[in-house]
Amino acid sequence: MNGIKIRGTGRCVPEHIVTNDDMAKIVETNDEWITTRTGIQHRHHCTTESHTFLCVNAAKSALEKAGVTPDEIGACIVATVTGDNIVPSAACMLQKELGLPEDIPCFDLNAACTGFLFALHTMECLLNASPRKFGLVVGAEVLSRTINWADRGTCILFGDGAGAAVVECREGWPSISAVMGSRGDDELLRLPGIETGERGFISMEGTKVFKFAVEAVPACMDAVLKKTGKTVEDVDFFVFHQANARIIDLAVRKYHIPPEKYYKNISEYGNTAAASIPLVLSELQDQGRIGPGSRMLVVGFGGGLTWGSALIEFA
Ligand code: COA
Repeated sequence: MNGIKIRGTGRCVPEHIVTNDDMAKIVETNDEWITTRTGIQHRHHCTTESHTFLCVNAAKSALEKAGVTPDEIGACIVATVTGDNIVPSAACMLQKELGLPEDIPCFDLNAACTGFLFALHTMECLLNASPRKFGLVVGAEVLSRTINWADRGTCILFGDGAGAAVVECREGWPSISAVMGSRGDDELLRLPGIETGERGFISMEGTKVFKFAVEAVPACMDAVLKKTGKTVEDVDFFVFHQANARIIDLAVRKYHIPPEKYYKNISEYGNTAAASIPLVLSELQDQGRIGPGSRMLVVGFGGGLTWGSALIEFA
């Protein structure tokens, strides 16, 4: 299989910032607890912005940076669990707004916080079967819609935003070698659907999910390194899903990753689920810390349960 590489990234976050002190006005919590337990200081929540608005702006920016026009796109995937509608999908709304071709698949993918990673792998497969060689992969969430404001264990965690990547597939390029896993579980982390009649609040057994995450992250990383025959030293940048700063710190310590090779933006955005990895990629590109030739090891984990990792290069 021919591999994909990233051509350009973009992002969009809503304007309204909710601080930890704002949270303390709603539930019994405080800045010190949230900062030390999670690393989160702010999160952005939509007020007037829609999910589609976030996707469109992130995607436009990624297309511009990639120097790719909408008519060159061969597939569009939006990884999300919080689209404006179930039907039409967020990807079809994006197609409409951007004027993407009609003879391509546009669809949403639900793998919760691992969604962007599953979508990258799916895109690699799709582009191998497409006459067009560019793909649009977006991770976007409006998790503020799903927050139970009476649950201090979860309401402080989540934020809204979108990140996008335009990828290219070329003959001879190495595959991103994605390693992915799933374990059906509706006890640890759940966001009910419409048929249940329940209000759609996220519920989570935080400590158990934390334990799952600290086991999943190194297992995924080891599997990708083994699959690609690379070592930690061969990787230019480690991109972790931003769920809790302590989960990232544990991985960084375990693999002796130096500060210039990883990044945390959880203090600014909180956990944005499928948007978190592309938000990191987009900020890193804008800061000039990743660019042509960079090799990134991307790691995600989340509801489902799902987990995964891949080694992706910048074209
Ligand atoms: N403010 C103050 N106290 C809080 C609080 C808050 N916002 N939320 C919970 N607490 C309290 C609890 O009530 C508990 O009090 P108790 O000991 O008197 O019962 C105490 O803090 C410890 O709670 P616990 O849930 O065990 O905390 P924790 O250290 O596990 O941290 C999370 C909670 C959610 C931050 C942490 O478990 C986590 O990050 N989990 C993984 C999240 C994740 O990865 N999720 C998504 C996957 S994508």
